[in-house]
Amino acid sequence: MADHSLPAAESPLAEVMVTQHSVAVAASGTAALAVRGLGKRVRLPSGELTILDGIDFSIDPGDTVAIVGASGSGKSTLLSLMAGLDTPSSGDVILDGEALSTLDEDGRARVRGAKVGFVFQNFQLLPSLTALENVMLPLELRGDRDAEGPARAILQQVGLEQRLDHYPRQLSGGEQQRVALARAFVTRPSLLFADEPTGNLDSRTGQAIIELLFSLNAQAGTTLVLVTHDDHLADRCGRRLRLDGGRLVAAESQAA
Ligand SMILES: Nc1ncnc2c1ncn2[C@@H]1O[C@H](COP(=O)(O)OP(=O)(O)OP(=O)(O)O)[C@@H](O)[C@H]1O
Ligand SMILES: [Mg+2]
Repeated sequence: MADHSLPAAESPLAEVMVTQHSVAVAASGTAALAVRGLGKRVRLPSGELTILDGIDFSIDPGDTVAIVGASGSGKSTLLSLMAGLDTPSSGDVILDGEALSTLDEDGRARVRGAKVGFVFQNFQLLPSLTALENVMLPLELRGDRDAEGPARAILQQVGLEQRLDHYPRQLSGGEQQRVALARAFVTRPSLLFADEPTGNLDSRTGQAIIELLFSLNAQAGTTLVLVTHDDHLADRCGRRLRLDGGRLVAAESQAA
């Protein structure tokens, strides 16, 4: 069995990342993300359901933000809208200065590919690809010549060097979650969205993933937006946004 310990803040990977991102963050001056009057409604046979209503906030580059709230309060929906994976019924998301409402599906995909890493609540690994191939995919999609080297390196970082050739069905829930995290990190995004990133992990592996996330933030300036029920993880974030019934009820600053 492999040792699942992860290197903490001093990881060589994070050091490589710092060069690219601290420069980008310093130069941009704009919010990493702004959410303006955001609403999401769906039409159901029983009538219209409001999932999110009038959400406003912005996130500075390098911020760490926890989105908290009860099950069904709209956290995953908000995360998908922020990342341009879903379209709002009203309002807009401005991602690194680009209003997503002005972009078509291809435009949003381009912004995502260039800037965004996303970890889904249910992982969404491709079942016909191995762990290594799943992590290589975003690099291949953007035309990187060497996808395998960085993919191997990051899978090692999350403690999965012994599982490279396993298909998702041959991995435990926590292992799938770590592959999903590796796939989201591997493109070195400036913004990382993760839906319950420690939800399926034992406390030791969860703690190691938290250290990896925050080492990306500290050393590469990666903006973190994390949906979580884990108080320990939320406490590590600089801010907490609380949703209740699709509305933002509190935006709390906290000591990081
Ligand atoms: N496409 C949809 N059609 C109808 N209802 C939806 C749709 N998507 C989400 N909902 C409803 O909107 C609400 C918010 O869903 P969402 O997945 O954002 O919640 P959440 O805060 O992430 O919950 P959890 O903590 O359980 O993951 C839920 O009540 C859900 O049933
Ligand atoms: Mg959710």
